[in-house]
Amino acid sequence: MEAHAELRDEALARLAACTELAELRSVEKDYLGPEGAIGALLASIPSLPKEERPKVGAAANRLKKELEAGLDKARGELETARVAAERAGGDFDPSLPPRRAARGSLHPLTKVRREVERIFSSMGYDIADGPEVELDYYNFQALNIPVDHPSREMQDTFYCDEEHHLVMRTQTSPVQIRVMEQRQPPFRLIAPGRVFRNEEQDATHNHTFHQVEGLVVGEGIQVGHLTGTLKGFLAELFQRQVQVRLRPGYFPFVEPGFELDVACPFCDEKGGTCRVCKGVGWVEFCGCGLVHPEVLAAGFGGRDDVDLDKLTGFAFGFGLDRLVMLRYGLDDIRNLMGGDLRFLEQF
Ligand code: PHE
Repeated sequence: MEAHAELRDEALARLAACTELAELRSVEKDYLGPEGAIGALLASIPSLPKEERPKVGAAANRLKKELEAGLDKARGELETARVAAERAGGDFDPSLPPRRAARGSLHPLTKVRREVERIFSSMGYDIADGPEVELDYYNFQALNIPVDHPSREMQDTFYCDEEHHLVMRTQTSPVQIRVMEQRQPPFRLIAPGRVFRNEEQDATHNHTFHQVEGLVVGEGIQVGHLTGTLKGFLAELFQRQVQVRLRPGYFPFVEPGFELDVACPFCDEKGGTCRVCKGVGWVEFCGCGLVHPEVLAAGFGGRDDVDLDKLTGFAFGFGLDRLVMLRYGLDDIRNLMGGDLRFLEQF
């Protein structure tokens, strides 16, 4: 009982001396914690003479309750004192609304990509992707671009590891081959992703940008399916009827190949002074065409579940950054990857 009285005096003195919450926590730990003094006292009871046990047990429990109540009270007093000090200092005004935590926002590229994905998903397309560091085989060879083909120079490639034939993909078209290798036709999908080109940079060219690849494979696919699909997509994106036109275009992995233009969604009178189309009335939208038989052979060749003689398809690839710029009226593509919060916080 003497040990108990000493423990109580010591604990209450320490409690009274506390001036901070952290100190209260350490008092709590030292006396009430799993390895605290009161626990030790309770644990010693079985070794005491029988007649002392109830007395010591009851005293230990009383002390425990007393300390718990003392800790609660001291916590309340410290908190009240803190608020009073804040008020006296003048930097606390309880009538002000609480400060809002700053919230992030989605990158404009993410917003437009999701919109594109939503529209194509509603047309029954799957979403696919592929690696950004790509084998030369997928980025070029399988797409009917042999090693010394001049179109390799059209796309200024970042080579990562020539020994292992690795490049930063210059286009999303390699995903075409990767999905052909894995899927059973018919299918339709889009593959949005980052691409890289070692080019001079200016307001409309960046070394890192984004494309959305489209690929539809099945029997009897024709150019009309291609234009109808892209027209439907653009109408949904711009929420109005749009006109499209095809011009011949050369890409080794399509035949025939086209450039598809869309009637400028921002100006109605052709020949005007529209900033977006410079008065031309049309904006280039994408490269596209019917999948070249060599590409189908590279992707599906040697499989007995695929009849190459009957297989056809269309493919397209458009720039997502361009679409974002059209959508938000931006004039410098470099802002999109610049990471400047003053730019990004506007979205
Ligand atoms: N990959 C081409 C480019 O980057 C675009 C394209 C995709 C063209 C699919 C035709 C078919 O320019």
